[in-house]
Amino acid sequence: MTETAVRTGEKAAAHVAVEPFDVEKIRADFPILREKVDDKPLVFLDSAASAQKPRAAMDAERDCLEHYYANVHRGVHHLSVLSTEAYEKARASSRRFVNAEHLHEIIFVRGTTEAINLVAQTYGRRHLGPGDEVLLTEMEHHSNIVPWQLICEERGAKIVVAPINDRGELMMEEYEAKLSDRTKIVAATHVSNALGTINPIREMAAMAHSRGAVILVDGAQAAPHLPIDVVDLDCDFYTVSGHKAFAPGGVGLLYGKESLLNDMPPYQGGGEMILTVSFEKTVFNELPHKFEAGTPHIAGAIGMGAALEYLMGLERDGWLRHEHGLLEAATEMLTSRGDVSILGTAENKSSLVSFVLDGVHAHDVGTILDAEGVAVRTGHHCAQPVMEHFGVAATIRASFALYNTLEEVEALSRGLDRVRKVFG
Ligand code: ALA
Repeated sequence: MTETAVRTGEKAAAHVAVEPFDVEKIRADFPILREKVDDKPLVFLDSAASAQKPRAAMDAERDCLEHYYANVHRGVHHLSVLSTEAYEKARASSRRFVNAEHLHEIIFVRGTTEAINLVAQTYGRRHLGPGDEVLLTEMEHHSNIVPWQLICEERGAKIVVAPINDRGELMMEEYEAKLSDRTKIVAATHVSNALGTINPIREMAAMAHSRGAVILVDGAQAAPHLPIDVVDLDCDFYTVSGHKAFAPGGVGLLYGKESLLNDMPPYQGGGEMILTVSFEKTVFNELPHKFEAGTPHIAGAIGMGAALEYLMGLERDGWLRHEHGLLEAATEMLTSRGDVSILGTAENKSSLVSFVLDGVHAHDVGTILDAEGVAVRTGHHCAQPVMEHFGVAATIRASFALYNTLEEVEALSRGLDRVRKVFG
C-alpha cells in the first residue's frame, strides 16, 4: 500500500462517528477485568506498570498467528504478503496515533527503553563530544537516565539535571537556565510514572530548540492517556511502549523527525536494515527499515496497531473526563484520611496517585491490598531520584486507566482501612 493510499483511507475512517465514552462498555472489551483474586473481584490499579489488553488487540495478534503469520518484507508467497500488509498497516495506525507527518518516521522497537537506547547510541554517539551536555529532568525514570549516562561516559559528555519543586513539577526557570550552547540533547518524560506530572513539552521543546538542542520525549506514560501530536509538540523524538498503551508486550514505537533519522547511523546490524551486503561494504536500507534489524515482533506490532486503533475510536473528551474524575476522587479520598501523604500534586496531572501511609511500609500496604483483590505497585517505580527528592524509599502507587471505576477507588479506600486495622 502506498503512503498516500494509507492516508486517504485514514481520512475516510476519521469520519466514522464515535460513541460517547461508557466505562461499562469499555470494561466489557477487557476480558481480564472479570477475573477474581481469592474470590474477590479484581481491582486493577497498576496500569502504569503495564496495562490490560482489549479484545481487539488480542484478536488481531491471534488472527495473524492463526491465519497469515510469516516473515515480513522477505517473501513473495501469500502469507508473507498478508503479514507485510498487516505489519505496515500497524505502522500507519502508529503514525496516526502520534500524528507524525510520514510513515517512515515510525520505527518499531521493543518499547521505550529500546527507543531511548537507540537514540542515545546513534544520535548521541554522533553528536555528543567532550564537554557537551544532555539535559534531563529530576523526574525521569531509569530508562531515561541510564542510556544517557552510558553514552555520556563514552563520549566525555555530561548529564545535567533540571530540578522539580515539592509538588513534583518541573521548575521551568531552572530548566531554561540549564540550557546552554553545550546542551545537545534534552530528554524528558511527557508524564511522570512516579508522580503523574504532565510536562509542558511544547514549551520545553521551543526552549531546547532555541539553544540548538534536540528533544527526546519519553511518552511511555502519556500514550495511555493523552492525545499525542508530535508535530504540534515539535519534539524531535517521541517514544511509546506498547504494553503501557494496552498493546502486547515487547513492542513499541520510536518517532523521529525524518531529517534526524536519515542522518543517524544504524543502531543494530543484521537483516532487513540493509540493501546490499558484501564482505567489503554494506549499503543500508532506507527509513524505517534502517533501524529495524532482524525479524521484528510481527504479531505484536499488528496487535499494537489494533490497540491504537481501538484507542483512537474512543470519545477522547469523555475518556479524559472519566480519568480526571477518578484522579479527583482518589485524591480526595486519600487526603481526607489524615494518615496519608501524597507525592506529586502537580496542577497538570495524569490519573495516578503515589502516596505513603503513616507508619506502614509500602510493601506491607501492597500485600494487604492484594489480599483484598486490589493490585497496586509499591516500590521506587524505577525512579529512584524522585524518591530521593521526597526523602522516601518507596511509595504505593495506584494508577487509573480508562477502564477503572469510582467503585474501585472505594475498594482502595476499604483496603487501606483494612491495612490500618492490621497495623493499628
Ligand atoms: N516503568 C514502569 C512503571 O512505572 C514499569 O511501573
